[in-house]
Amino acid sequence: MEFFIDTANLDEIREAYDLGVLDGVTTNPSLMAKEGVTGHDNIIQRYKDICNIVDDNVSAEVVATTFDEIVSEGMNLAKIDDKIVVKVPMIKDGVKAIKKLTSEGIRTNCTLVFSPGQAILAAKAGASYVSPFIGRLDDIATDGVALIEQIVNIYQNYGYETNVLAASIRHTMHLIQCAEVGADVATCPLSVITGLLKHPLTDSGLEKFLSDYRKGNA
Ligand code: G3P
Repeated sequence: MEFFIDTANLDEIREAYDLGVLDGVTTNPSLMAKEGVTGHDNIIQRYKDICNIVDDNVSAEVVATTFDEIVSEGMNLAKIDDKIVVKVPMIKDGVKAIKKLTSEGIRTNCTLVFSPGQAILAAKAGASYVSPFIGRLDDIATDGVALIEQIVNIYQNYGYETNVLAASIRHTMHLIQCAEVGADVATCPLSVITGLLKHPLTDSGLEKFLSDYRKGNA
């Protein structure tokens, strides 16, 4: 399973990368705004900064919503760095644009996916990644992890190469459940990745090992 971090915060990206387990970054306009990164030039610069930290897989989201504009914006984003994956919303023109960008050799991430049907369309268009938002489904009393499982099964049935990227992950159990049902990637906040470290028996066990060592080597 690959881990992406879902943020535009450079310190958090560096911290996750330094842990040695980070495979990529996802961003979106809301995450950019949260960091105070506004305006075209500043947003492009932030993508460059992120690409300079990580090895690959930096999702950069288009804000265009019509075919020609999505393709044009996507091509410009892809020119920033070979690590860029162009993130395109699951709308009719987005599906068409994914097909076009894919034919041009540009990797895409189809975002704002909330149903198996949308995931089939993304795969048929040739998306490199499909991003079902599980937390937002849970928010409306719908089982987000069940959607991941459905999409994984459907993709296996037909050998679709699109990677299932579980997004809108809110806590460590989401991540573990996504791993259980076979998501290819989980994108999550830093707190979810570091949350995997935690177990009270690890802490108390280490404390005992170290105190016994100190007693024997006083
Ligand atoms: O990757 C998509 C993600 O950023 C959405 O997360 O928490 O806004 O639903 P959230």
